[in-house]
Amino acid sequence: MMLFSRIQTIDLILIKFQILICGNFAKPVCKFKSSDTVKSKTKEEMASHSKTKSNYKSLMKKGFFEIAATLLHRVKSTSQLSDEEQVLYDMCLCRLSFLPPIDLTNDYCRILSTSQSIDQSMAPIVAEQILRHLKSKMFNHKHSKLLEYFAGNELFTLYLQSFFNVDISIEHKIRELRTTILDLSNDVFSCNASYYNLAVSLAIQACHSDYILDISEDELGKLATLEHECREKETDDYFEKTCFIKLAMYLPPTENLKQKFNSINSKTKVERKLSQHIDERLDYLGDANTVPLLFSRGNIKERAPVTEVKSQYENYPFPRWSNVLTSKSKRTFREHMEHRESSNKSISVPDNIDILVAGCGTGKHVISLAERYYYSTITAIDFSATSLKYARMKVDRATYPDIEFYQADILELTNWERQFHLIESVGVIHHTIDPIRTLKVLVDLLNQGGWMKIGVYSRLARRYIEFARQVIAEENFSDDIEGMRAFRNFVLKSRETSDLRKLIHYADFYNTNHLKDLAFNACEKVFDIPQLKAMLELLGLEFRGFQLDNKRHLSKYRSIFPEDQAGINLDNWASFETENPDTFIGMYQFWCKKK
Ligand SMILES: C[S@@+](CC[C@H](N)C(=O)[O-])C[C@H]1O[C@@H](n2cnc3c(N)ncnc32)[C@H](O)[C@@H]1O
Repeated sequence: MMLFSRIQTIDLILIKFQILICGNFAKPVCKFKSSDTVKSKTKEEMASHSKTKSNYKSLMKKGFFEIAATLLHRVKSTSQLSDEEQVLYDMCLCRLSFLPPIDLTNDYCRILSTSQSIDQSMAPIVAEQILRHLKSKMFNHKHSKLLEYFAGNELFTLYLQSFFNVDISIEHKIRELRTTILDLSNDVFSCNASYYNLAVSLAIQACHSDYILDISEDELGKLATLEHECREKETDDYFEKTCFIKLAMYLPPTENLKQKFNSINSKTKVERKLSQHIDERLDYLGDANTVPLLFSRGNIKERAPVTEVKSQYENYPFPRWSNVLTSKSKRTFREHMEHRESSNKSISVPDNIDILVAGCGTGKHVISLAERYYYSTITAIDFSATSLKYARMKVDRATYPDIEFYQADILELTNWERQFHLIESVGVIHHTIDPIRTLKVLVDLLNQGGWMKIGVYSRLARRYIEFARQVIAEENFSDDIEGMRAFRNFVLKSRETSDLRKLIHYADFYNTNHLKDLAFNACEKVFDIPQLKAMLELLGLEFRGFQLDNKRHLSKYRSIFPEDQAGINLDNWASFETENPDTFIGMYQFWCKKK
């Protein structure tokens, strides 16, 4: 059903774009009739027309990656792509929001095994590609076949190594696979390199997911025996290695076991990857106070109290990420805003701006800004030392200049002698006791006429999460990893059609730190649009439009409210959201300007 509506959507978009791209075509020339068959009367004609780079580029600029990828894929089937086309093609594939009905297995294998910039946001598309294959192969569920099939599935092992899984059917396979591998004798392991490779990939996956998956009593018993043997027995390297991998598919390795594994010479590529992931995790969770406090004790009026929220982000830094998709279109902030504000051309900010990221988390937000705008300085603050350590580790590796991280509570910034052209605070103030007071501190740090991007939760869009939070409170699930695992089991046992079951469609359901942020947050407030409007008025901020990931919402809004092409009337947006309650499913993210 879902696939069918997607095909219809791509059909419609393609028809619309054929008119734009190939203006001389009298009729639409291409229709998707089934999930993987592209039928077209004039395929070659289409390919030759669309083979101008400007077409791909303009499609990409408009965010139509699915069509650009489909066109390039079609070109690729008849002639080799030029270097530039190849880069554009890969960029499209990394940014797809739904999978076009073409087989991209080989392309994703190539990208996942070679590219440095693979972002977690690609996981759902790669998962869908894997599932399509599984369904089409009428997969046999017997254990021996299961292991054989997945050990020989390159895309699956690369998926495990690259992202945390975001799909429930794949999760079931992962659980079956590790149970099967746990029972394999070391002899079978040693004869079959592909089984071993799969096991190492499952161990990397466990690390990616922060060990979210539940472990059965039976498995716990076997793991305890293994650990004991590994610790107590005189064993050889090979035995230790296989024990280590089996344990690491389930649990974070102890320091001692990790050292033993690290000391083994001549590791394979995938073993080195596992070592790196485990080291990184132990590193940022270790002594965290490596990023300086912004203010020493004497320099602030009052240190904000340590809250439950701070403790939460110390133990569960968010988000967990590996890379940011690099942008090919770095611009000045002025150019960016002039493009957004097409009706109002006078944006008075310098070419290189000073940016504050308030509540920077683990730094992904910071890097994406450094990738997007020319800047003079980026100052990033957060009160979680662990998150900052994670951020510093990633940013140092990527060598971005003039980014400074400091540990501070936003509420402590009241006497700070700094002013910024742009302040971004996304997913932060709704975790504070007093969001308006927190935002007021930030507004005072903004230049006159300066810009802010704020992200807060929508009550309407979060209805399923709010319900989940109620269930968690009523059923008394503890907020540690055991409690989160028990809650996940509870969700998975709930009726297919229940509101609680909706959680399995959130990527955050599949990683411990993310689930903590999603449904177990120590403090969370939700907003509606009238509240946003009142808050902005109170703080002297002018609303300048929502940042919507799904551009279709804005098109729909414009067609309903043609008099507000800029999308800045909050009353209209309030009625739009009532009719379209999932518009702000991630968050309300919006731009505003200091009056
Ligand atoms: C959900 S994370 C968002 C991180 C980042 N903005 C992003 O979008 O990736 C929220 C972050 O805000 C930080 N935070 C919450 N309240 C804060 C406060 N009063 N002062 C400083 N940081 C705060 C938390 O430590 C956490 O890292």
